[in-house]
Amino acid sequence: MKPPVLLITAGPSREPIDDVRYLSNGASGRMGLAVAQVAAEKGWQVHLALGPVDAQIPAGVIHHPFETARDLDALTAQLWPQVDAFVATAAVCDYRPQERIPGKKKKAPGDWNLQLVRNPDILENRSKDKEDENGPRILVGFALESQAGEEEARRKAVKKNLDLVLCNSPGNLGVATGDYIWIEPGQPSIDLPAISKDLLAVKLMEFIGTQVTLRRGHRASMGNDESVSQQAQS
Ligand code: C5P
Repeated sequence: MKPPVLLITAGPSREPIDDVRYLSNGASGRMGLAVAQVAAEKGWQVHLALGPVDAQIPAGVIHHPFETARDLDALTAQLWPQVDAFVATAAVCDYRPQERIPGKKKKAPGDWNLQLVRNPDILENRSKDKEDENGPRILVGFALESQAGEEEARRKAVKKNLDLVLCNSPGNLGVATGDYIWIEPGQPSIDLPAISKDLLAVKLMEFIGTQVTLRRGHRASMGNDESVSQQAQS
């Protein structure tokens, strides 16, 4: 029996300035690790693309370390054909230094204006190819907003073609418990105040399991493998 395949991105990206300096952020990868743990326990095949953080990889999870947004874009594109569901928890840097300076840049009189360029949006890129022969993949995103949170999260859900977006605030970075808003496009929002990332991961996998069962049911109705849908429900 072929288990359903889940791809998770987690942790920060790290964008080199020179050989010793970089741009990054304080993401811990905790949310993605919690989802990976629950999915692996359910018997899913789990690919965890994890940025540079210290973490214990849950048993049975396939670990893909990454550093830059561009590495992550290439890695997720390569895994994409086998993926049933994608949970993007990574805090990807939206900008990177235009060039990586070889060695260590020396101090010089005056200021230093670092030129930044846009990074690829991994979730948006993959969402352009949401559908495969089994129907649409299930896409879940996180929107970290400091203001006008819910409205902005709904806008991102549409732009990135998401089935679910979890809206949260910068205070949730790196901690075990946070306030979230659960938003399925076209449905009323659900507030999840002070929920642990472990419990949120369980709720997420219940949602994704149901959605993937529907997707695999579509495949079965087309005369393909039905055994996978039974696995997604368990
Ligand atoms: O940064 P933003 O609020 O747009 O992030 C929303 C979602 O998109 C998150 O799930 C994040 O992991 C994902 N994302 C991404 N690549 C980026 C920026 C964000 O995959 N460059």
